Amino acid sequence: MIDRNIVITGFMGTGKTTVGRLVADRLGRSFVDTDDEIARRAGKSIREIFEQQGESYFRHCERRLCRFLAAQRGLVIATGGGMLVDESNRRVMLASGLVVCLNASPEVIRARLEREASERPLLRGDWQALLAQRAAAYAAIPHQVDTADKTPQRVADEIIALWQTEST
Ligand code: S3P
Repeated sequence: MIDRNIVITGFMGTGKTTVGRLVADRLGRSFVDTDDEIARRAGKSIREIFEQQGESYFRHCERRLCRFLAAQRGLVIATGGGMLVDESNRRVMLASGLVVCLNASPEVIRARLEREASERPLLRGDWQALLAQRAAAYAAIPHQVDTADKTPQRVADEIIALWQTEST
């Protein structure tokens, strides 16, 4: 179906938001970044939500938003890195559209995250262990795009090409 959502997921630092915006612009679609939407609804940053209400409250907001967005059509959605690690969230998004997981090696992720002044609460812990622990959940997503050595534009092109193949 031509108006199914396009959902971009993957670990922190894989470029979901940048690539998602490019895909949305190119296809003339609305773009939603789930972290931005959760922060907007809560009236505070993701870091503040983690600090004041805890990660489990943040995951609750994510589950709710996941179902809300999956019920809509024609969106490009960039998820937070943990959203589709949850199996039921993954199922809901897979039923709503094309889900693409962006990949990068830990070295590439580290380089990208070091370049950004990051507010991400989970980067204070052992993020490499988290990446390893999530590997099976990310691998369960049928479409994978490697982002190493590619510009965001090129990654967006690959997602659009995939989208065109899938929707014809
Ligand atoms: C998280 C990733 C973050 C954000 C939150 C938790 C995760 O999103 O949702 O800090 O569990 O991987 P980005 O992947 O956009 O940084």
